[in-house]
Amino acid sequence: MCGIVGYVGPQQASGVVLGGLKRMEYRGYDSAGVAVAADGQLVVAKKAGKLVNLEREIEANPMPTSGTAIGHTRWATHGAPNDVNAHPHTSTSGRVSVIHNGIIENFLPLRRELEAAGVVLTSQTDTEVVAHLLAAELDQGATLVEAMRGACRRLEGAFTLVALDAQQPGTVVAARRNSPLVVGLGEGENFVASDVAAFIEHTREAVELGQDQVVVITADDWEVTDFDGSPAPSTRYRVEWDLTAAEKGGHDWFMRKEIFEQPKAVADTLLGRLGPDGSLVLDEIRLSRDELRSIDKIIIIACGTASYAGLVAKYAIEHWTRIPCEVELASEFRYRDPIVSPQTLVVAISQSGETADTLMAIRHAKAQRAKVLAICNTNGSTIPRESDAVIYTHAGPEIAVASTKGFLTQVVACYLLGLYLAQVHGTKFGDEIAAVLAELEALPAQIQQVLDTTTEQAMALARELVDAPSVLFLGRHVGYPIALEGALKLKELAYIHAEGFAAGELKHGPIALVDEGLPLFVIVPPRGRDMLHDKVVSNIQEVRARGARTIVLAEGEDTEAEPYSDVLIRLPTVSTLFQPMLAIVPLQVFACELATLKGHDVDQPRNLAKSVTVE
Ligand code: F6R
Repeated sequence: MCGIVGYVGPQQASGVVLGGLKRMEYRGYDSAGVAVAADGQLVVAKKAGKLVNLEREIEANPMPTSGTAIGHTRWATHGAPNDVNAHPHTSTSGRVSVIHNGIIENFLPLRRELEAAGVVLTSQTDTEVVAHLLAAELDQGATLVEAMRGACRRLEGAFTLVALDAQQPGTVVAARRNSPLVVGLGEGENFVASDVAAFIEHTREAVELGQDQVVVITADDWEVTDFDGSPAPSTRYRVEWDLTAAEKGGHDWFMRKEIFEQPKAVADTLLGRLGPDGSLVLDEIRLSRDELRSIDKIIIIACGTASYAGLVAKYAIEHWTRIPCEVELASEFRYRDPIVSPQTLVVAISQSGETADTLMAIRHAKAQRAKVLAICNTNGSTIPRESDAVIYTHAGPEIAVASTKGFLTQVVACYLLGLYLAQVHGTKFGDEIAAVLAELEALPAQIQQVLDTTTEQAMALARELVDAPSVLFLGRHVGYPIALEGALKLKELAYIHAEGFAAGELKHGPIALVDEGLPLFVIVPPRGRDMLHDKVVSNIQEVRARGARTIVLAEGEDTEAEPYSDVLIRLPTVSTLFQPMLAIVPLQVFACELATLKGHDVDQPRNLAKSVTVE
């Protein structure tokens, strides 16, 4: 949510910063802006709307030659997405500019204080107060880094801030609390950004910053301190992926690329975790066997798609471990006084590792002395750093706002965790674990098979249903979260009414929605689970009898479901717990294609942003 970047070095800084913003536009696309320091002055360009508007503006009015710049792409919180509220925000004197990601919770009293002192604020944002606070410190003789520390000590809430001072060209200062910030270390040039994607084409050397830290970068140096100016520890690392991973690779959308990357993403999640003897290797879990043995309850916390991954995992984890497992929306968790003890394992699932709701739920769980394990795709992000243990999904960067490979790899990582717990708790033994691991190992090829055999069909279906005002999804057991996820994909990309239901709930209300021609997807469990399978087949008959157009996802040989399917999407035969990872794929393709046909921006759906860093 909001992408920020700062650069100091020999290149034309406005160009470098614009390049960085392009790779971070998924974080917010309401408006964008750049400030450069040149000839003792700051020059600012900012525009409402997508980054392309700012690019056009800069093309028409080129920015001065300068090696120091900051840039921002915004997801609006305070103040409408217009030119005035776009970042950077600049002090009245024009000396200092600042960009911000997050929410400054005490901005109102600060604003009143500034106004009482005669400062005229020109925007409706919470950010502008910081520009004026910085200016006040600079006017009293502080350096930019001292001013930043002083301002941060007065701020409450979540923020990453990056500032530029006209009188200190060649220096950029950034600070963070509860929002992401990484430093990129190049040869004679340095960067700060919300995400390594912003500088990956220049360097893969990065430094992750801790909570309440300030970094000052020049072309040749960088220094991290805390808000009081004491040296602070930071971790240097090399980014595992390169520029090609952050590009579309011939696909028209990042989302399509990421859908097709899923076989590899799942293989990468499994890499190094399956021992040669068929055992499970999860050495990276920083929880001792004794700690894991003491666990008597699991609570999965997550938001949106990640919560649906958790819902799928619940079935597997309880089945394998016999430990009660709840799934809770992170945004609800801490507000309901949950029952949590030191024997509770809280599993926080987050692709970005920055979701504020999930982070706050983690803090609440830790305050109750629960153990927290993160399942995350982003190395060094806040959620794994604040957790006691982490399983990284290693899916590579997910840039499309709608999660696809993030979801699949989260389910796989949860399954690894479930098996590991079953191993430690002795509820599953060697052979049984090896059999499930073999199923996991077969997944990448099966997902590829689904992509190869169902993509055309899912795209044709999108063409047929492009004008459908409403689409329903039904599933049962692990198929239920897939129904929810299929509906979410359609809502967020195609902006049409879509709902997922547990098939058993149909008769308790939702069946009233069924009308002549209503498209209704049904995920049919494999026939191995006879009762469940037969019940869902009955549900198909019930909705078909009421005029629904049934689009059925079932295993290839399912002759019982076939007669009631207007469209049958055939999936490979797998066990029940593995069907979700196959069934979701055509639903992702369908939503992506339908949104494309509607002319929507699939990678950047309206009103949304990747990485929701505000509660
Ligand atoms: C939907 C989607 C969101 C995210 C949710 C959590 O396609 O991507 O629902 O799953 O915002 O994000 P993370 O996993 O980054 O915590």
